Amino acid sequence: MVKKKGMIFATKIFVVLFLHFFISIVVSTSSINYTQSNHKRTLRKHPRGSLLYPPVQLHVYDDHVVVDNGIFSMTIASPEGTVTGINFKGIDNILNERNEKSDRGYWDVNWSDPSDRTDHLDKLAGKQLEVLVNNDNIVELSFKRPWTGADKNNHVSLNIDKRFVVLRGSSGFYSYGIFERLQGWPDADIYQGRIVFKLQDKLFRYMAVSDERQRIMPTFQDREKGQPLDYPEAVLLTHPSNSLLRGEVDDKYQYSTENKDNRVHGWICSDPPVGFWMITPSNEFRTAGPVKQDLTSHAGPVTLSMFFSTHYAGIGLGIKFQDGEPWKKVFGPVFVYLNSVPAEDNPLSLWVDAKEQMLMQTASWPYNFLNSSDYPRAYQRGQVTGRLIVHDIVLGYGKFAFVGLAPPGAPGSWQEENKGYQFWTQADEKGYFRIKNVRPGLYHLYAWVPGYIGDYMYSKIIYILPGSKIRMGLLVHKPPRNGPTVWEIGVPDRTAAEFYVPEPNPTLMNQLYASQRAESFRQYGLWDRYTDMYPDQDLVYKVGVSDYVTDWFFAHVNRNIGNKTYIPTTWTVLFDLDYVIPGNYTIQLALASANAAEVQIKINDEGGKSPVFTTGLIGRDNAIARHGIHGLYWLYSINVLHSQLQAGTNAMYLTQTRGDNPFRGVMYDYIRFERPLKVV
Ligand SMILES: *[C@@H]1O[C@H](CO)[C@@H](O)[C@H](O)[C@H]1NC(C)=O
Ligand SMILES: *[C@@H]1O[C@H](CO)[C@@H](O)[C@H](O)[C@H]1NC(C)=O
Repeated sequence: MVKKKGMIFATKIFVVLFLHFFISIVVSTSSINYTQSNHKRTLRKHPRGSLLYPPVQLHVYDDHVVVDNGIFSMTIASPEGTVTGINFKGIDNILNERNEKSDRGYWDVNWSDPSDRTDHLDKLAGKQLEVLVNNDNIVELSFKRPWTGADKNNHVSLNIDKRFVVLRGSSGFYSYGIFERLQGWPDADIYQGRIVFKLQDKLFRYMAVSDERQRIMPTFQDREKGQPLDYPEAVLLTHPSNSLLRGEVDDKYQYSTENKDNRVHGWICSDPPVGFWMITPSNEFRTAGPVKQDLTSHAGPVTLSMFFSTHYAGIGLGIKFQDGEPWKKVFGPVFVYLNSVPAEDNPLSLWVDAKEQMLMQTASWPYNFLNSSDYPRAYQRGQVTGRLIVHDIVLGYGKFAFVGLAPPGAPGSWQEENKGYQFWTQADEKGYFRIKNVRPGLYHLYAWVPGYIGDYMYSKIIYILPGSKIRMGLLVHKPPRNGPTVWEIGVPDRTAAEFYVPEPNPTLMNQLYASQRAESFRQYGLWDRYTDMYPDQDLVYKVGVSDYVTDWFFAHVNRNIGNKTYIPTTWTVLFDLDYVIPGNYTIQLALASANAAEVQIKINDEGGKSPVFTTGLIGRDNAIARHGIHGLYWLYSINVLHSQLQAGTNAMYLTQTRGDNPFRGVMYDYIRFERPLKVV
């Protein structure tokens, strides 16, 4: 089959028509609320769409297929199922044609064989193409690779089914994957799964991850010519092609985002003004809950959709299959959105439009056009509503609580859960919540409330059936507490954001964050600023005098004593007690991150042999090196005997005992000292 010339002409006409339609959508929706029904209508039915837009066309060739809906066309290597070309608005190929065909738009997983601990990268190249749907309104393609046991060193033991979907009148395409293991298959540890798109570097120079986090980016070559820093992902740009970037640090981890905020990101080309966006309309298939962080887009130019990874959490998040455990999960769909504006318009408006598109896609979730019984439609899903209140010293609302359904486990287990689906929402100011579009299955209901320590879990299993509408009524979270607060440091919100984040070393800056105080934890090298601030004496915090905003360093890191040597540090909290009450005191110690670290606590006896408490060696979340403000959450309730305290000044010593390198350490979330409940 050969593409007809007439088709190209028709495409141009329809592109113009599309633009009109497109602008009218933007105009007509800009002043209204994003109600679900409204957007469902806009996106799903395209009332005038069937008249305005040409039919979707599928052309099947020997080693590739082309799908063309008149707005864009995409070329997919077949049967591999890797995207080799995207033609849009006169750009022959949005993707980087200098890359191999397998290295432009592809799915991959990192996995390891636990029997020999060897690591593998599997690009999941398909073996057979199946055209599932091919009509005027929709083309859905499936690129399958059944697991056969062959090529054991490359192929992960999964049945792979990669899908691509193109709709009539839609400026972009969907991709999702169905991964399956059958009973009895060999053990496997799967650490990362994602989609990668590598764009034309000559065209795409401007990246946007959020309203504030957007900038002109260095190129791949700029990074190659630069100086790798600690962790080679961080590079000092010494010879960038754009001289304005000289002396800046670039690191893809500076553009990480929490799952709940990782909904749209991508790139803008200014000439012609075209955008390429990764839109993730739901987090149900992502792992480890709403505040799990992951990569977005980064220099290359590269755009990712991270389905699961160990980033900011550790190898514990590897999906481990043992004893022939069967499994099946649908990842995605995610929507790759292409947009454009006329040459005279501001290309940055493409970001605003991409956000609107994200809202429309989100409102249309779950989609009603996928050809898979593994993806339940809206009527096949359920809903859970309720209200959370908190019973601490006084009764409070579960204000803005994070409430979620995740596979059954212990309280808080969702932050390392990675085989099932999770459904999260945030309660309103009064603790009311509604979790929509839940897949049928068995769940626990989990929650945590900013401002309070601890995890809530409803004790019974929740069964979601198709169409379930479950009302939970009033749920009461009793955060851990053994007595009234004597003093506290920080805010219990699972991050170290409220503490002192230092200015970066002026020679190691990402200028994007120079003026953004709230994001300055993303700067490179802050771990060494501790040594600059506390060259000999460690941090001492005086309760009632010090202020955690300025006097509590955001991460308890090691001291750099030169020659790449890092030694442990001890922080001291000084506090006065008028008198000691007989009974037990409690330290509530909440950590926002831990990396190969151990915190030991001593009280009034710094030189004493045995600490009052030790966390033991904990954590692999690597948040210090990856410029996170948190990793995983840890909470300890520590008993302190009254005999260890004295009237007058007391000292609590916090030692992070594991020296050795700059990236071992913890971030505190919150520390509270409680006195005994009863005066005896
Ligand atoms: C730095 O460390 C290296 C290797 O451990 C050692 O050989 C060298 O003497 C050290 N230099 C200084 C100044 O301590
Ligand atoms: C105080 O702690 C000790 C040691 O853990 C324990 O044996 C004792 O029962 C506690 N006392 C009270 C009043 O809780």
